[in-house]
Amino acid sequence: MKRTSMVLSLCLSLTLGFAAVGSAADGKALYEKCAGCHGADGAKKALGIGKPIKGMSEADLTTALNGYKAKNYGGEKKAMMERQAEKLSAEDISALAGFISKL
Ligand code: HEC
Repeated sequence: MKRTSMVLSLCLSLTLGFAAVGSAADGKALYEKCAGCHGADGAKKALGIGKPIKGMSEADLTTALNGYKAKNYGGEKKAMMERQAEKLSAEDISALAGFISKL
């Protein structure tokens, strides 16, 4: 009986551990789709346009991504980002903004 509960609590802590790692890794995994244009560390000007996203605050990144998703943000090449952002959920956007702001 004691053994069972030990095994159970071990399983539970492993599951919780994985869940935590999973959500922390989300932004990183999502960013893989962005790195081609923005660079692995966000320092590249995407297609030579605008400013690098590295150094943007979490709040600015959230505004930008929500804006592209809502199609009311951006510059000349915003259609490109609108296509990227329309697939992102609110959760994805917050994970990405958190991750990119720390690059
Ligand atoms: C196909 C190339 C491409 C991909 C892939 C891409 N971007 Fe962009 N991104 C651009 C371009 C080009 C711009 C400038 C668009 C404009 O004119 O508004 C931009 C702009 C941005 C901006 C706004 C910067 C500013 O100055 O306000 C953010 C934030 C951003 N991208 C984040 C992302 C994220 C996050 C992803 C991945 C989900 C991503 N991008 C994927 C090309 C790309």
